[in-house]
Amino acid sequence: MELLQRPRRLRGNSAIRAMVRETRISPASLMYPLFVKEGENIREEIPSMPGQYRFSLDRLPEKLYELRDAGVGSVMLFGIPEHKDEVGSGAYACDGIVQKALQKAKKEVPDLYYVTDVCMCEYTSHGHCGVLHGHDVDNDPTVELLAQTALSHVQAGSDMVAPSDMMDGRVLAIRNKLDQNGFTNIPIMSYAVKYASAFYGPFREAAGSAPSFGDRKSYQMDFHNSREGLKEALMDVAEGADIVMVKPAMSFLDMVAKVRDIVQVPVAAYSVSGEYAMVKAAARNGWVDEDRIVGEMAVSCFRAGAQIYITYYAELIARLIAEGKIG
Ligand code: PBG
Repeated sequence: MELLQRPRRLRGNSAIRAMVRETRISPASLMYPLFVKEGENIREEIPSMPGQYRFSLDRLPEKLYELRDAGVGSVMLFGIPEHKDEVGSGAYACDGIVQKALQKAKKEVPDLYYVTDVCMCEYTSHGHCGVLHGHDVDNDPTVELLAQTALSHVQAGSDMVAPSDMMDGRVLAIRNKLDQNGFTNIPIMSYAVKYASAFYGPFREAAGSAPSFGDRKSYQMDFHNSREGLKEALMDVAEGADIVMVKPAMSFLDMVAKVRDIVQVPVAAYSVSGEYAMVKAAARNGWVDEDRIVGEMAVSCFRAGAQIYITYYAELIARLIAEGKIG
């Protein structure tokens, strides 16, 4: 056969495959979501996310050391408060669970980078991501509380805030609030393209944040839409977002690629709880090879154009990179 192009020439052995590899990843790009809760001596496994735990403050450092030693670049903290109320006051209390966790974490393990999720659903008695007006989340008063929440996180030591609520105008409000208080250097990573998704199911069990009525479709995006996601990403950048996120990751890689093409800021992809749970369940049954599946999921996000990958599998991925299996 006369063939001028034989793509297999570049796949002949591992040396040449490594030479022409287009996507290289580093554990520094991995962000690990971590649940903290009130109480003592707690390290409880999340039933729908085997291998993932909720930690009380005294048990938090052990996990942080593990992550740091694995080379994982950053942690994203989620709080589970003892008490919830209508207005989610635990979210912006200076002695709230996330605020206390930050103080402890920054003191004990200062060489990790700490990001905090800014939202109200873990703190409201009704489980919605803001204050209610009738049965709907009231946008503008919620935005003010989100800005207060972000400020309280930064005052407690957060290195970066990540609003996940999907209210309109919250990035600008947070930017203004941080700037007015002298925190001009703290970046905002917005959950810009966040879909209303069944993939969040296990997280809501983990954080006890399922809405007590209705759903989140009046603020999170309709998964049929793509152009609307680009609008959200561009709006957030215009409001001052330093990084924009697409979430979930696996079924939304088209959005990672498209967003990456139209913005000049870094893009993050969040492989959410349902993605983790599905892989874990199949792996536990011996139906898939967990390491290889996780490696492909991770690399595909970077290949699609993400610079940051938020994943419950961060430590495993760091190990796969260290062992030369991916990256
Ligand atoms: C808070 C928030 C959620 C997730 C991240 N931040 C839940 C939701 O929107 O219902 C989901 C993360 C995951 O599923 O891993 N609003």
